This record gives sequence, structure tokens and C-alpha cells, in this order.
Amino acid sequence: DWTMAGYRDEAIRKIREQVGDSKVICGLSGGVDSSVAAVLIHEAIGDQLTCVFVDHGLLRKGEAEQVVSMFRDHYNIPLVHADESDRFLSALEGLDDPEAKRKTIGRLFIDVFQEHATAVGGAEYLAQGTLYPDVIESVSFSGGPSVTIKSHHNVGGLPEKMGLKLVEPLRELFKDEVRQLGRELGLPESFIGRHPFPGPGLAIRCPGAVTREKLAILREADAVFIDQIRRHELYDQIWQAFAAILPMRTVGVMGDGRTYDYALALRAVTSVDGMTADYYPFTHEFLGETATRIINEVRGVNRVFYDCTSKPPGTIELE
Ligand code: XMP
Repeated sequence: DWTMAGYRDEAIRKIREQVGDSKVICGLSGGVDSSVAAVLIHEAIGDQLTCVFVDHGLLRKGEAEQVVSMFRDHYNIPLVHADESDRFLSALEGLDDPEAKRKTIGRLFIDVFQEHATAVGGAEYLAQGTLYPDVIESVSFSGGPSVTIKSHHNVGGLPEKMGLKLVEPLRELFKDEVRQLGRELGLPESFIGRHPFPGPGLAIRCPGAVTREKLAILREADAVFIDQIRRHELYDQIWQAFAAILPMRTVGVMGDGRTYDYALALRAVTSVDGMTADYYPFTHEFLGETATRIINEVRGVNRVFYDCTSKPPGTIELE
């Protein structure tokens, strides 16, 4: 007779047992997982918890403001808003290998969390919203050979040299279960229904080297794409949708001038748990309208592709 309310109470008991009266910091990413983890841990240990929202400069348009205000308005959880964008973006400069980018971001996250653990007066634990699929995907893939597809920055490899112990209360859950738990904890529906967003952020939607110029283009294009999806009332049917900026420029014509600008790939998939996914079958009308809007509204883009790859063989993110 398993219920989410029962799961919640049991999780709270385990968190109390694990951390005792130590201090905990929780890395908030703005996603559903880390938010649910934060609220759950706060129920368990109250103000022994401090949340740290790291702005790594790889967030979407308006995202930092949304997350900070949602936490300050709805919860009484102490929240540090750490603007570390210069540090992350300069460390990423010139890096074009996907694993090198992921590892650099993961390493900097640890540095930042360690600094904040000290700053709150010696936190011993770092809490993360790691889910079950994150745990298995970093070990094997869909029953296939045991290889690492991608280094998820929030799984494995961290603790040894970190000096912080991990609290991961969602490690046994799939995404749909985390959403149920979030409802149980009273998180607003608009927040629970948000598409997942990866820890490494826009860096993995920018194949090759990340630049501020590309990030600025991505933010605008992504906002138009999501606006289109909302206008057509498709948001809740889609697991995840985003724009990626391709590492190439192509020639186009605008008015009576030649353009030489970036190409974007749009990606949208349906999925149950992120382990496998199908590309979303938008109508040609929707795709045409969206491409036109993006090219008209976003400077620096003159071509838009739609990614029709499912997972496998593609992954959801481009890197
Ligand atoms: P892939 O690209 O591996 O993505 O098919 C599966 C799901 O995981 C998300 N993702 C991540 N989430 N840290 C995260 O928190 C990461 O490093 C990471 N990499 C991918 C991705 O957005 C998709 O929902």
C-alpha cells in the first residue's frame, strides 16, 4: 500500500537520520528535481538548510529572476543567489570537447558549493536532486554495454575530493514520481509542469566552443520557440523543447542584402523518463511559422532546422 505521502514521510525520516544536526547546502538549479529536493529537505531539517542558486551564465532568458522570486515568495528557505557567470564562462573559453565542457562545469560547481559550505558556517552535506535515471545512465545505457554516455555533473566522481557528503533524497525516483512528490509538498503546478533543464545548461545546446554571442542568440531563440509552443497549447504534451545553436554559419538573403549568420536546430521530444524519447511531430505549418518568427525576431540567425532524431540513437541534448 504505497503512497506518495508515505514516501514523503519516510524520506523526511531518513534525511533527519542521515544529517543529524549538521548544516546542509542544496544546489538549486531552477529545475523541478532540485526544487523538490530543497523543499523536502527543508521540511525535514528547517533552517539547517541553505539553498545556493548558482548562476553559471548558462541559464535561459529570465530564469534566474524566476527561480529566485519563486523561492523567496513561496518559501521561507534561506537562498543565496551566486552570480558566478564570469568564472564559468572564462573557464569554458575555447573548450569544444563535450566531456571537457561537462567536467569543467562540474568541477566549478563543486568549488562554488564548497565556498558556500564554508560561508554558511561549515556545512557538512551537499544536497542534490539526482534521480534514478541519472544514476543508471551514467553507468550503462538501456541494457547496453557499460559505457558512460555523458558525465552528469551531479552523479558520481564528486564526493572523494570534495569533503562534502551527499544527500540525494530522490535517487530512487523517476521524473513522474518527483512531480507527484512535488504536488504532495505543495509546489505550484506551473512549476511542477516545467520541462527539465540540464545542470550544464545552455553549454550543451551550443556544440563546440561556448561564446557569449552564441548564448545571447540561444536565449532569444529559445524564448520564441517556447512562446510558440505555449501559444499552440503544446507545452504539456512535450517532455522537453529547446533551441540549439549549430557551430556553423550559412548564407541567406534578407530584404535585398546577403546574410551570413548562424543556423539553429530546434529539438522537441516526448518521453516518460528521459531514457528513451521520440521527436515531437509538429505540423509543417507550426514549424514554418516558428522558423519565420525566429529569423525575424532574433538577430544573428538566418536558418532553422528541426531535429527529427529519436533517442536512441540520438540523445536528447546535443552534447
Ligand atoms: P540526454 O541528453 O542524456 O538527456 O538524452 C536525458 C535527460 O537528462 C537531462 N540531462 C542532464 N540533467 N545534468 C542534469 O541535471 C546533466 O548533466 C544532464 N545532461 C542531460 C537532459 O536535459 C534530458 O532531460
